[in-house]
Amino acid sequence: MIKLHNIRKSYRVGGLSVEAVRDVSLTVHKGEIFGIIGHSGAGKSTLLRCVNLLEKPTSGTVTVGDMELTGLSEGQLQRQRRRIGMIFQHFNLLSMSTVRDNIAFPLTLAKLSKAEINKRVDELLKLVQLEQHADKYPAQLSGGQKQRVGIARALANNPDVLLCDEATSALDPQTTNSILSLLLDINAKLGITILLITHEMNVIRSICDRVAVIDKGEIVEMGDVLHVFLKPEHPVTRDFVDQVADSGANGQLLRGRKGRLLRMTYIGDLTYEPILYNAVKPTGVEFAILQGTVSRMKETPYGQLIVELIGSDAEVERVIGALRAEGLEVEAV
Ligand SMILES: Nc1ncnc2c1ncn2[C@@H]1O[C@H](COP(=O)(O)OP(=O)(O)O)[C@@H](O)[C@H]1O
Ligand SMILES: [Mg+2]
Repeated sequence: MIKLHNIRKSYRVGGLSVEAVRDVSLTVHKGEIFGIIGHSGAGKSTLLRCVNLLEKPTSGTVTVGDMELTGLSEGQLQRQRRRIGMIFQHFNLLSMSTVRDNIAFPLTLAKLSKAEINKRVDELLKLVQLEQHADKYPAQLSGGQKQRVGIARALANNPDVLLCDEATSALDPQTTNSILSLLLDINAKLGITILLITHEMNVIRSICDRVAVIDKGEIVEMGDVLHVFLKPEHPVTRDFVDQVADSGANGQLLRGRKGRLLRMTYIGDLTYEPILYNAVKPTGVEFAILQGTVSRMKETPYGQLIVELIGSDAEVERVIGALRAEGLEVEAV
C-alpha cells in the first residue's frame, strides 16, 4: 500500500547540510498497522511527512496505492492527498471552529454539498463517540477528545491510509489506551492501512503488526512486532524493548547459581499451559523461576521465563528436549 524507495531528506541549516533521513526503503502492506519507533531527532516526523509529500524527499520515490506521488504535479498531488489522512501529537485543530466545523473542514475543501457534509460529519461524530460534543470548541475538550476530533477530520474523505505522528504522546496512559483502541477499531472496521511513528514501545506492542526501528535517519531493524520484541538485535531496539518488558536478565540475581540457566519463550496458547511442570515431572530435575513476564502483543499472549534447572546433565537435557518438543524456544542465558 505504501512503498518508500531509497528516501533521503537533508536540510540546509546555516550553510551546513543535515541528513534527517538516510536511504530508507520500506513497504507497508494493505490493511496493516505499521509502526516506526525511534528516539527524539531520529528522523521519524521527517520520514512520515515524506509519505504525503508535506516534505519533498531530496531523493527517492514514494508510492501510495498504485500511484507514484513523487512523480505528480502539484494539482494531481492535491487530489491524491485526500486518500491519505494524518493526525498529530498536538492535534492541530482550528481553535476558532467548533468540533463539527473542524471535522467538516476537509469536506468543504473537497466541495461537497451542505447536506452531504452534515450527513458525513454525523457519521464521523458517531464513529469517534463525540456526538454530545459537536458544538463545543477545542478549548472545552480534553486531550483525548481533541485527538478524536483529529481522527474524525483525518477520516472525513474516506482515506486508504492514515498517518499518525506521535498521536498519543501528549496523552496520559489511560487516554492513550482509549485512542489506541479506536485506531485498532478503525483499522479492523474500515480496513484503513495505518503508518504511525512513536517513541513509546507500548504503542508498538499494543497495536502494530510490524515495526521498523529508526536511528539517526536509518532503519536499523525491521520485522514482525512479536519477533523484534522477543529477539531484539540492535542496541537501540533493546533499549525500547526494555521500556516495557523486564526482560533484561538481572545479573545480580543470576550470579552464583549452580544449576543450568535457561530463557524460555512461549507464544500464543502455550502461555497458559503447565508445560514446565509437565517436562520436569518424569525426571528428578528441580527448578527455580528467577524472572518472568507474561503479557500480550496486540492479540497474541506471550511469556518469557528465566529458570534454573538443577539435576544431572542427561536429565536436564531431557527436560530441554521436552520443552522444545512442546514448541517452546529454549536458550542458555
Ligand atoms: N525543517 C527543518 N529544518 C532543519 N532541520 C530539521 C527540520 N526538520 C527536522 N530537522 C532535523 O532533522 C532531524 C530529524 O528531525 P525529526 O524528523 O523531527 O525527528 P523526530 O520526529 O524523530 O524527533 C533532527 O536533527 C532535526 O533537527
Ligand atoms: Mg517528531
